[in-house]
Amino acid sequence: MAVLPILIHPDPRLKKAAAPVADIGSDLRRLADEMLQTMYDAPGIGLAAPQVGVLQRLLVMDCVKEEGAAPRPMALVNPRVTWTSDETNVYEEGCLSIPEQYAEIERPAEVEVAWTDLDGQAQSERFAGLWATCVQHEIDHLDGKLFIDYLKPLKRQMITRKMVKLKRELARAG
Ligand code: NI
Repeated sequence: MAVLPILIHPDPRLKKAAAPVADIGSDLRRLADEMLQTMYDAPGIGLAAPQVGVLQRLLVMDCVKEEGAAPRPMALVNPRVTWTSDETNVYEEGCLSIPEQYAEIERPAEVEVAWTDLDGQAQSERFAGLWATCVQHEIDHLDGKLFIDYLKPLKRQMITRKMVKLKRELARAG
């Protein structure tokens, strides 16, 4: 099982809206497996296909954090938010495409999401807590939106400059 390279911001592929998945087959299931592997390896709690350079509406997540609890790997194809709570929640968010940078972001505290699973079955679920934040963050990726887009321009530019520097250093390290 392969661990895929994760794109680091700024990258034009992270700013594009991803296309709906038309065909759920073995290639897509393999991609979802590799994305989960990549996410756990990072480690992270969510990963969207554009972050590995695939501009398709697929995301994976597992927000189980309790020590010793069973993992709950999820793969959502063509997910969409169908309901949001009026109540909001603030979480300190990070992103595997923006390493080592964190910021408090306010989002609806609960969301209902509809998606197709890897067997082609329609699913929907109401998410709360960290799951709600994570699924909204990942769906944003499918629309070319990053959590830093919620920040004031100055803060966003500061983080982007740090990432440009990090990418330069990574390129130099080869
Ligand atoms: Ni992210």
